[in-house]
Amino acid sequence: MRNTVLLTCLLGLFIVSCTTHEPQYRLGFSQCFDDAWRQKMNAEMERELLLHPEMDMQMRVAYGDNVLQSAQIDSFIAEGVDLLIVSPSAEEGVTAAVRRAYEAGTPVILADRRVSGEQWTAFIGGDNYGAGVLLATWLRQVQRQTDHRLQVLEVCDMEGSTPARLRHQGLMDKLKVESQKSKDLPMPEVHSVNGSESAYRAVLAYLAVHKKVDAIVAHNDRMAIDAARAARDMNYSPLRIMGIDGASEGLQAIMAGEIECTATYPSRGDLLIAMAAQILKGEPFTKDSIIPSVIVDRSAAEAMLDLSKEAEHEVGTIMMLKGRTEVLREEFRLQHTILWMVGVFSWVLIILFFYMFRLYRQRKRLHEQLLEAQEHLEEATRSKLTFFTNVSHDFRTPLTLIADPLGQLEKDASLTEEQHGLAALAHRNTQVLLRLINQVLDFRKYESGMLKPKWSRVNMNEALREWTEAFSPLAKQRHIALSFEAPEDMIDAVLDVEKTERIVFNIVANAFKFTPENGHVGVRLWREGKNVCFSISDTGSGIPEAYQQRIFDTFFQMDATNSQGSGIGLALVRSFVTLQGGTISVADNPEGQGTAFTIQLPIGDPSTANTNADYVHITSDQILTELGTEGQEEVNVTEDDDKSIMLVVDDNADIRAYLRQVFSDTYMVITAENGSTGLRKAFISVPDIILCDLSMPDIDGLEVCRQLKTEQVTSHIPVLMLTARSLDEQQIEGYEHGADAYVSKPFKAEVLKAQVASLIENRKRVKSGESRGKSQESKDLQTPEEQFVQRFNDIVREYLDDETLSVEVIADKMAMSRTQLYRKIKQLTNYSPNEIIRNVRLQEARAMLNKGTMAISEVAYKTGFTSPSYFTKCYTEFYGEKPSERNNSKK
Ligand code: FRU
Repeated sequence: MRNTVLLTCLLGLFIVSCTTHEPQYRLGFSQCFDDAWRQKMNAEMERELLLHPEMDMQMRVAYGDNVLQSAQIDSFIAEGVDLLIVSPSAEEGVTAAVRRAYEAGTPVILADRRVSGEQWTAFIGGDNYGAGVLLATWLRQVQRQTDHRLQVLEVCDMEGSTPARLRHQGLMDKLKVESQKSKDLPMPEVHSVNGSESAYRAVLAYLAVHKKVDAIVAHNDRMAIDAARAARDMNYSPLRIMGIDGASEGLQAIMAGEIECTATYPSRGDLLIAMAAQILKGEPFTKDSIIPSVIVDRSAAEAMLDLSKEAEHEVGTIMMLKGRTEVLREEFRLQHTILWMVGVFSWVLIILFFYMFRLYRQRKRLHEQLLEAQEHLEEATRSKLTFFTNVSHDFRTPLTLIADPLGQLEKDASLTEEQHGLAALAHRNTQVLLRLINQVLDFRKYESGMLKPKWSRVNMNEALREWTEAFSPLAKQRHIALSFEAPEDMIDAVLDVEKTERIVFNIVANAFKFTPENGHVGVRLWREGKNVCFSISDTGSGIPEAYQQRIFDTFFQMDATNSQGSGIGLALVRSFVTLQGGTISVADNPEGQGTAFTIQLPIGDPSTANTNADYVHITSDQILTELGTEGQEEVNVTEDDDKSIMLVVDDNADIRAYLRQVFSDTYMVITAENGSTGLRKAFISVPDIILCDLSMPDIDGLEVCRQLKTEQVTSHIPVLMLTARSLDEQQIEGYEHGADAYVSKPFKAEVLKAQVASLIENRKRVKSGESRGKSQESKDLQTPEEQFVQRFNDIVREYLDDETLSVEVIADKMAMSRTQLYRKIKQLTNYSPNEIIRNVRLQEARAMLNKGTMAISEVAYKTGFTSPSYFTKCYTEFYGEKPSERNNSKK
């Protein structure tokens, strides 16, 4: 794609360079006047420019105003023209401006007239002096034809201009030279007037005074024509008149007989342009070009006029052609641009097309790979499921063969109470297992399209009420409110009753699993058109919205590490609903916290089904077996009870019952069915060991463990985690949360017993180390348990002489209850707190006696004994010698 962009940019640049034909050089031309001769010069320049498309010229006319012309020259400099052509009006007036341009590095060509100094690049102009000489030459001819000394009026150009000065000089020099050469001819007498303002008026004024003028020589044809007009207007006797220039107006005046002849004064605009091109291109050029003049009389004027007309005509044609060429060039440019743009876009399109095509092919390949992988996956899942189904089938027969004999064994009267309990437990659980396996098989059957509904007629009001009421004992046991609402009108429906009952059982059982104590589970029935609807709501932990659509998917579990089942229950429920043409949905409980499931089933035509269904399928006993607790024992631990306490935290009632049976001979077993109850009971009873399930609905085992280990009261208690999973990471996680050991379900009772015993033994090892006490310096190295005992000892030492120091006082200082302190101290040290208090008092007393500075009675009171005799009694019992013996030995 990057290449495409680059290519497009390059092409764009190319287009721009191809379609723009901007002239390379810009010329500025400052023209001093706007008369016929000047227009001829301008036209010659324009014509020459046609041959030089590399140059573009801008002309500004100063109308004889020096100041204006200087400003125009400056503005050309400011605009940065590449070359300047200046035709100055007066020598001095624009010298400074020309110098500025020259010094700024702009080449300057002077046209026709000069400025002072040499600060210009080149000059092209007519031969003013030569033109003056020609005027004299003509006058000599006229003199020859006249008998008297010729009276001549010279009409001069603008004072201070090069033409005026040089032409006059040429005229006078030549007349002098000629008169010296041929003495026989008198030198004409010349009088000069300035005709630059108005030659007509100047001549008129002169002729009015001087009646004998023979000839007039004017510095240009325009003034010569004016002079002729003035003479005519004055009815002056015929005058012979000559001008300078030879432009069309002069030639026409000759043809009209107004003036006699003229000296050509070439304007040569073409040469100016050619020279500009040479200078700009760095080619050699002539710095000072002076073009000579010739005399044109009537005989040559006609031919010159024809030539100039022809030239004008040709210029017209050229200009017209130029115009057309411009139009064509514009059209060409446009077409050129369009062509290039089309080219560029075609390229871009082609590249894009290839890019898209490649992308499409890649996508297609990827899609094919994905399909292949999906097929593999589906195939693998299919074979796994088939395997799973086969295994489930294989399980069913042996399970039935276990369940039946267990049922018979349970009824055997010769069993002890404990044996009977164990048999009943095993029997109940084989039944649960059978039910689960049947669920799996049913689901597989549904998936393969083999599960067919068995239609029968049922009164939904009665059926749903009975199914709900089967949960009443469980609700009572779990302190959960259970409600049932149904309309007064009976709803008879044709349903697969067995499957509908499984739907209700599964969802209500789920609701109970997730609803905490004092919660509410509500079942509601209603009719909606041709459907029977019922909803089951709970005030449990709720299902996040993101999961609500997915919970019916096979094997979906909201929390994979803390699951509450196989993930097949709700999938089976949905399949049973779909099988009957109904729908099931889940949403947040509209009454607040928790979830509400709504099931809608078509009523069908009750008249078509004649059998009334036997819908009672599951009993309260079964429900209690699967979901109930074994009853809440109140924790009532006394200090005198020396039996170690074990707390079992597990949401499975049978596991709790089983562990109770396994450990009840050695331990006083208390149980909790969820994490929060477990934490509460651990805190009250400070057990010697805790067995805790990892996966539980409210607070999971890891969190229970973490909280136990952060509380001072319970931090020392060994925690053994029970879990159905044995993944290494989960075990590591367990240890990270402070678990002391890990046991995977199913476990062997003997192994578990050994592990529990070893954990308690380990705790004792800590205990024997601590009972000796630690020095202050090594405090940092102490375990939290050792520090705890140290704190206890320190308090005793602080209040050593206080005979009223009691366990209650110390418990208070340590922010614990007396029982908690008693149990923790006993578990850690094997001594009761009172024993430790007495031991510390006696150890301190012995130290005082060893110093030998105090009387026994003083030592007794200082160590908090109520009387010296009681002190002596305790001391003797503890150390096997009387305090007096030690006291004497020291003295
Ligand atoms: C025109 C003109 C011409 C003359 C030339 C001299 O402006 O006066 O008639 O020959 O300039 O510079």
